[in-house]
Amino acid sequence: MDRRAFPHLGVGVGLRRPHYVHVLDARPAMDWFEVIAENFMVEGGRPLEVLEGVRANYPIVLHGVSLSLGSTDPLNRAYLRQLAQLARRFAPAWISDHLCWTGVGGHNLHDLLPLPYTDDTVAHVVRRIRDAQDILGRHILIENVSSYLAYSHSTLTESEFLAAVAEAADCGILLDINNIFVSAFNRRFDARRYIDEIPVERVVQFHLAGHSDHGAYLLDTHDHPIRPEVWQLYEYAVRCFGPVATLIERDDNIPEFAELQAEAAEARRRGASVTAAGHARAAAGSGYK
Ligand SMILES: [Fe+2]
Repeated sequence: MDRRAFPHLGVGVGLRRPHYVHVLDARPAMDWFEVIAENFMVEGGRPLEVLEGVRANYPIVLHGVSLSLGSTDPLNRAYLRQLAQLARRFAPAWISDHLCWTGVGGHNLHDLLPLPYTDDTVAHVVRRIRDAQDILGRHILIENVSSYLAYSHSTLTESEFLAAVAEAADCGILLDINNIFVSAFNRRFDARRYIDEIPVERVVQFHLAGHSDHGAYLLDTHDHPIRPEVWQLYEYAVRCFGPVATLIERDDNIPEFAELQAEAAEARRRGASVTAAGHARAAAGSGYK
């Protein structure tokens, strides 16, 4: 995988139902949209009409939430074939899903659950990512999830695990900056050190989102504006990885579109000021545009 093969899309937002009409009719300024793939894996009707309309005016990326790459259930090949069909129709810049499991024994737990970080898990997930990439006919991106616990038998750190999986599977990384911040607080690790351990040449996209502060722990709720500490970590990530396509995620308490445009503008402003000042790790000839 060569990250220079992926376009640098700029800063986008997640396409959410309350904004469908505004995006279709007013065509507001936005670099790109991330689309939850499962919402559009239907036979026809309104959802696909909406996506046709959006795609006519903006680049899109397909973001899946149910591939369950870490599960021990068989890989869902029917789902992957359906996803491949959606991708053929809408030509997303890339497809992503999560480095997690979402169920087992045929039961869907409807959550993105963390994995134990061991060599066995690396081998297991790598096989499944390679199979998924074969069916989709492209490199995918895998995203780090937020977590509230760690497994006592883990032998790798999460960042070592993510790096090892991406290298061995030859896939890209969607680095969720808010998830790193949330997990680092909850599990008491160093968020910047995590970022330092991620291979620059694999990082194709960032996620930014807001979380809820419950005092003893942080909850990854995507229902708030991005918090100042997460903006600071974003600036650190841009220093490390250079300019990377960035996506603002908001899933609940969804504001007017203009508020998300303002957050996207803030990401552009902060990214540009960091890039203008130069960035260390990514400067060594990545050529990523
Ligand atoms: Fe995310």
